[in-house]
Amino acid sequence: MSRPYDLLIVGELNPDIILTGDVIPRFDQAEQLVDDLAVCAGSSSAIFAASVSKMGLRVLFGSLVGDDLFGRYMIEELRRAGIDPSFVEVNPALKTGAGVMLSRGQNRAIFTYLGAIAAVSSAQVNPVWYSQARHLHVASPFLLSALRPAMPAMMRAAHEAGMTVSLDTNWDPAELWAVDDLLEHLDLFLPNENELLAIAREHDLERAIARISVRAPVLVVKRGERGAIAVRGSERVEAPAFQVPVADTTGAGDTFDGGFVAAWLRGEPLQRCLLLASACAALKVGHVGGFVGQPTWDEAEAFTGRPHPTWTTGPSR
Ligand SMILES: Nc1ncnc2c1ncn2[C@@H]1O[C@H](COP(=O)(O)OP(=O)(O)OP(=O)(O)O)[C@@H](O)[C@H]1O
Ligand SMILES: [Mg+2]
Repeated sequence: MSRPYDLLIVGELNPDIILTGDVIPRFDQAEQLVDDLAVCAGSSSAIFAASVSKMGLRVLFGSLVGDDLFGRYMIEELRRAGIDPSFVEVNPALKTGAGVMLSRGQNRAIFTYLGAIAAVSSAQVNPVWYSQARHLHVASPFLLSALRPAMPAMMRAAHEAGMTVSLDTNWDPAELWAVDDLLEHLDLFLPNENELLAIAREHDLERAIARISVRAPVLVVKRGERGAIAVRGSERVEAPAFQVPVADTTGAGDTFDGGFVAAWLRGEPLQRCLLLASACAALKVGHVGGFVGQPTWDEAEAFTGRPHPTWTTGPSR
């Protein structure tokens, strides 16, 4: 069936403000000078959308922003990433959200002001869209509090219309980790290691993988500079991270997700999906900002030819 879009994403759209250097705050009016300030396109849904768009997929992105500087900036950034911003509603009664990152290389503190993020709801979803795209990706269910109750129905509608479905939960600020009603609808589940441990209510990674991999046809666990693991039934593949200079890891996971989904939708073998995803993330982490450095398909593929630590493949443990 030919459809006008490959990817449907309905989610948050906001910038990140990234401070680098002496970023551990001291109170009592102490004035600290930081090394760098960057205002960048952010948010998991939008970074993922930009990533798959740059990989050549056609993206239908629904969202909500305020009629303000950050909202206008993000609409322009979407356009620059090749995404039509017509499905982003501008509501003057809302303020666009923002993330403030205090970044120290691989490690960062994140302050999120939700604003319009918490107002994105099923009102931003046109049911016609389910017959117009091939795959639904859901990111940040814990931030999208008004959309959260509609997510199981969205996933069900997507499947009924012949779409496949992926989820990256990202962190739950409330640390409740309630995802049972979402897990049952997934084709791909893409948490990072800490998120997987929290969702599985386990301290041991292998036990968490064993517990959750039986509930998702494909489970991909992102492990930062330690790489990633993908499990599909009895098949298991591990990919170390590429060794590259790191400027900023914001959006590494979302860009990784974009590479993985793009390769998976092309029917690539699991090992190839993981390698392309790792290449996409490695190219991103060399730059500050979520959208910056994200590769095209050809750039990611060329990068996978670089020397890479050894692969581990084999049956699931
Ligand atoms: N320092 C690094 N060097 C090379 N690759 C990296 C580095 N950090 C992350 N990556 C790549 O990015 C992938 C995803 O990173 P990570 O585990 O940080 O995801 P995440 O926590 O979901 O990120 P996000 O902050 O976008 O939510 C890793 O599996 C790895 O391939
Ligand atoms: Mg993540």
